[in-house]
Amino acid sequence: MKKRIAIFASGSGSNAQKIMEYFKKHDDAEVAIVLTNNPEAYVLQRADNFEIPSHIFDKHEFTKTNDIVQLLKNLQIDLIVLAGFLWLIPQNLLKAFPNKIINIHPALLPKFGGKGMYGDKVHQSVLDAKEEESGITVHFVNENFDDGEVIHQSRFRIEQGDDLEMIKFKGQQLEHLHYPKVVEGLLKKMKS
Ligand code: GAR
Repeated sequence: MKKRIAIFASGSGSNAQKIMEYFKKHDDAEVAIVLTNNPEAYVLQRADNFEIPSHIFDKHEFTKTNDIVQLLKNLQIDLIVLAGFLWLIPQNLLKAFPNKIINIHPALLPKFGGKGMYGDKVHQSVLDAKEEESGITVHFVNENFDDGEVIHQSRFRIEQGDDLEMIKFKGQQLEHLHYPKVVEGLLKKMKS
């Protein structure tokens, strides 16, 4: 049986898109569902385009019930992939999927991570700190924001004159290139 991926995203979902593309015709793995807390998220349209089912939930369902865990268990999910997902993962979900939840962050953790560090805010902080490089981090998820064991990092140089848009673009290029492959590598390591 193919390994099964669940993607959580809160916004545009460009990383989700790359992962759905990568696994569309993959022999060993598939995206089984996309979940979001945001009914307006463009990622829902993207999931539809791939004919991948989606589920919208609210804070109560996510934090006060076991429904999401049950849904993911019923779907026999092997790996949960956060791709621009904004909420902290609750204990019941962490416990049900130990070392099976990963996140991508648009900076070189442990720098420029933590609560509220999302999207443009991260890149602006990198610029303000006059860093010479930035990059991306894929890490296991724990009960804190941007804090679990690092699985993958790639980096790029910040050239003189690079503005927020350029840093964001360079980061996104790396994310789109690496995230699907990191997911594939982790799934390969899992026993069937
Ligand atoms: C990505 O750059 C991801 O690294 C970031 O949100 C963006 C989502 O873009 N995540 C965080 O900042 C997590 N702290 P996307 O919706 O186009 O994939």
